[in-house]
Amino acid sequence: MKRLDGKWALVTGSSRGVGQQIALGLAQRGCHVIVHGRVASHCDETLRLLEACDIEAHIVAGDLKDVDGTNALIQSVKEHPGRIDILYNNAAIMNAWKPTWEITPLEWMESFQVNLFAMVMLCNAFAPSMRDRGYGRIVNLSSGIQNVPQLAPYSATKAAVDKYTRDLAYELRDSGVLVNALDPGWLKTDLGGPDADHPVETVLPGALVPALLDDNGHSGRLYAAQDYCMLEG
Ligand SMILES: NC(=O)c1ccc[n+]([C@@H]2O[C@H](COP(=O)([O-])OP(=O)(O)OC[C@H]3O[C@@H](n4cnc5c(N)ncnc54)[C@H](OP(=O)(O)O)[C@@H]3O)[C@@H](O)[C@H]2O)c1
Repeated sequence: MKRLDGKWALVTGSSRGVGQQIALGLAQRGCHVIVHGRVASHCDETLRLLEACDIEAHIVAGDLKDVDGTNALIQSVKEHPGRIDILYNNAAIMNAWKPTWEITPLEWMESFQVNLFAMVMLCNAFAPSMRDRGYGRIVNLSSGIQNVPQLAPYSATKAAVDKYTRDLAYELRDSGVLVNALDPGWLKTDLGGPDADHPVETVLPGALVPALLDDNGHSGRLYAAQDYCMLEG
């Protein structure tokens, strides 16, 4: 099994759902993990799950709905551990289901703030130091959602994530920093809902593939976690 011993990862939105699985998968490969949620107490369960792994883990809180909350998260990570090697931009929100004509500008803006602009702030904060050290893995959570106009803000943010991922990968070409997008599949989480195709555990091990790439691995690609699933979905 490929290992990530001694690396530090920040997984946004790892208090539950997909992010919690990613945090666990990384920790099982020896990676130290910074667990994140809007509020620190939301992350207690994930921290408890990581106790079985021989790694360091701690919680950072910050609401990505506003610039101050995102900066608070960045500041906490810069204070401890100071550097990160692996960044999973996983946290996201989905707008309330309604006819596309009724979705308000505020709902559009909130979706873009959490799902794209906060991601950009986190990449701006941590990608340059990864480049300077010659190593980094950035994984941006995307989605395979299609033909659901009731969720147009959510879908549009994910299209923007894909484009931003390709641009950032090009910016960081030949630097040792690989930037990829990840489609986790439709999963039974708070966001995915109970009718989703797969249990959340099926996101492993595929979700780890873009973090485990060798330095000459792909950058600017979209990985599908379900392609690697070994569980009955
Ligand atoms: N589930 C699916 O079927 C599916 C399909 C395709 C793509 N995805 C993508 O996978 C990622 C994870 O989805 P999920 O299903 O695990 O979602 P989830 O169960 O709803 O969990 C969302 C996570 O994001 C955090 N979060 C939400 N709003 C936040 C905010 N304003 N500021 C900071 N953190 C916030 C939550 O923290 P708190 O606990 O503190 O609220 C939680 O940890 C998302 O990018 C999603 O778009 C999911």
